[in-house]
Amino acid sequence: MTGSEEKDFSVKNPNNMRDSARNEKPRIGVFVCHCGVNIAGFLDVEEVTEYAKTLPNVVFAMRNLYTCAEDGISAIKEAIKEHNLNRVVVASCTPRTHEPLFRAACEEAGLNKYLFEFANIRDQCSWVHMNEWAKATEKAKDLVRMSVMRASMLEPLEETTISIYPATLVIGAGVSGMTCALSIASQGFEVYLVERENEVGGLLRSLHSLAPTVADPDRIISRYLERIKSEERIHLFTGTTIKSIDGYFGNFDVTLSLSDREERFKVGTVVVATGADEMKPDGLYGYGKLSGVITQGQLEILLKENRTGELKDVVMIQCAGSRGQRVSYCNRICCMVAIKNAIAVKERFPEARVSVLHNDIEVYGVIQEKWYNKARSLGVRFRKFSPEKPPAVSESGDRLSVNLFSELMNREIEIPADVVVLSSPLVQTHSGMELAKMLRVPLGQDKFFFEAHVKLRPVDFATDGIYVCGTAQGPKNVAESIAQAHAAASHAVNPMRQEKVNAEAINSYVNQEACVGCGYCAWVCPFGAVRMVVNEEGNLVSEINEALCKGCGACAAGCPTLTITTKHFTEEQTLAQIRVAFPQPSKPGEDFEPQILAFTCNWCSYAGADLAGVSRFQYPPNVRIIRLMCSARIDPLYVLEAFRRNADGVLMSGCHIGDCHYINANLQTERRYFALKEYLEQIGIEPERLQLAWISAAEGEKWASAVKDIVEKVKKLGPIDKSKLRYKESERHPV
Ligand code: FES
Repeated sequence: MTGSEEKDFSVKNPNNMRDSARNEKPRIGVFVCHCGVNIAGFLDVEEVTEYAKTLPNVVFAMRNLYTCAEDGISAIKEAIKEHNLNRVVVASCTPRTHEPLFRAACEEAGLNKYLFEFANIRDQCSWVHMNEWAKATEKAKDLVRMSVMRASMLEPLEETTISIYPATLVIGAGVSGMTCALSIASQGFEVYLVERENEVGGLLRSLHSLAPTVADPDRIISRYLERIKSEERIHLFTGTTIKSIDGYFGNFDVTLSLSDREERFKVGTVVVATGADEMKPDGLYGYGKLSGVITQGQLEILLKENRTGELKDVVMIQCAGSRGQRVSYCNRICCMVAIKNAIAVKERFPEARVSVLHNDIEVYGVIQEKWYNKARSLGVRFRKFSPEKPPAVSESGDRLSVNLFSELMNREIEIPADVVVLSSPLVQTHSGMELAKMLRVPLGQDKFFFEAHVKLRPVDFATDGIYVCGTAQGPKNVAESIAQAHAAASHAVNPMRQEKVNAEAINSYVNQEACVGCGYCAWVCPFGAVRMVVNEEGNLVSEINEALCKGCGACAAGCPTLTITTKHFTEEQTLAQIRVAFPQPSKPGEDFEPQILAFTCNWCSYAGADLAGVSRFQYPPNVRIIRLMCSARIDPLYVLEAFRRNADGVLMSGCHIGDCHYINANLQTERRYFALKEYLEQIGIEPERLQLAWISAAEGEKWASAVKDIVEKVKKLGPIDKSKLRYKESERHPV
């Protein structure tokens, strides 16, 4: 342990930001961007700017050619000072890329960054309505109005300062875990490296050689072990499981179970490097029934231990279980593994006939291509099959026989085999799934650990202070695992080096005086951040641990007494947007154009809507989007208020089930959606007016279709017949 015990590792709220805006009348500045011709080429920026000047609390509005360019940023800073602005709205591209820049400009001019608001009039307006100048202009005005109303309700927020304990827990001592531990230790920090097996090395231990270097895995492992043992900052535990990990970023309390005792210590950061298992493809191509049908992993061990016996006819079948058979993903490394093992067989038994049956072969990069060519030159036959006509394996006397429809010959062929080797995919380990629950970090649809953002935060989780590397996150080769381990190490070290970090101020808080102690919030919180406590008056009330709360808002959206809210996404702020989205009811009759309000989560569905813009997928200009952190923040109250305030349809959207960035918070979204549909029917609103769409960040086209779909459905229904409504204004929670 270092001398850090004396330090204070508590959570603090420094009052280091100008706070006067909380009590001042809003003075809003609006900056409308031309984005060259990206916005100005498809809607009337001047009209939008002039309109912004007429909105309540707006004291200044201007337009810029590029608001994000140096002169645009300077203009914002100058206007804040000159016009004493206490709120800023920029109408331009998307907050996903430019919010940090504009927030920083506000901060530099002395304004709390949470007093900044975005209106997305490019990705979600000009680019998706390129042939509808007038309607796109009207929509941009609506979006600016909604942002201005939300900005009026914004409050300055103080970020929490967290002290970071200078030690890391690395879970898993395979090649990624060992690399990560060595990297962290070499940067001067203590590391607890924990491996559940009795030996280090993980998947590497069972390989006979590495491709494409032909390096000996055993030598690599022993070199790693030597370095780990000689590094006094690394505390290695093998044959050890994690009993518990409590606490939060900067202050995790870890308890290990060893065979003879428990060990407890504190760390500031955690790296998940638990690796993966090879899937056992039971029932596929006779695996588990026919002797002689094995996996590539089993062949590796036989080759390593020289136990193959003489091989004459070897057939390898690619994608056994992957790409839609048992799992949806491509295993990425199977092609290279098969080529490596085919070469190994040919080098040991030059007379052997080796066939690789494949749907397609993916070897990327010059070196892997060379291996492919080497296999061919040694006589390995690569035979293509179509997934619709996969090979069939059967017994033929004391041997095996593989029947294949050869696309090249356009006929069925039969290949005799001593051994059939299935290239089956890597899958999540059982212990990995248990660990995900313990750490409260998400697994993706493929059950691998799910990073915060595939490109922008590839080794982080949405939960701060926990990182991932290696095959725990998905199939990858040794070189990729090592590279990712270094990345995870530097992410784990960064906060420890800084000693203190500011945590995002968006989290939920509870007004304990009004809490009725129902416990719903504690039940739905995916992070275990809420617990029920007895207050001084002896009442059961909810208590939220700010450091654990990630601000998804699942608790706030379900609180029956509006006792909980989420900072920066309060009910008042969102309702302010909803109430001005559609000032007038839609026109009935032939001119009926449905008014659709859409709620997106910050991560996937908002990004999907942006992608529709980037891809220029055109869709009807009837929709107005409200961004929340998670779809679980869509309070039923919002949906009802939208219908009450002239929306003809409401689209709820979020990440696919299994991909929610707040573990599984969107299960609450789904539950509320179905309950809301029932309730809408009861109060006289056709349930079809409410739709739910799971949209990933890569599904721009799906977003465009979802909008088209709801517009068409609601068009058929016509406007809501308000005379038939049985909605009581006082009613808050139908679900
Ligand atoms: Fe997208 Fe939860 S973050 S639905």
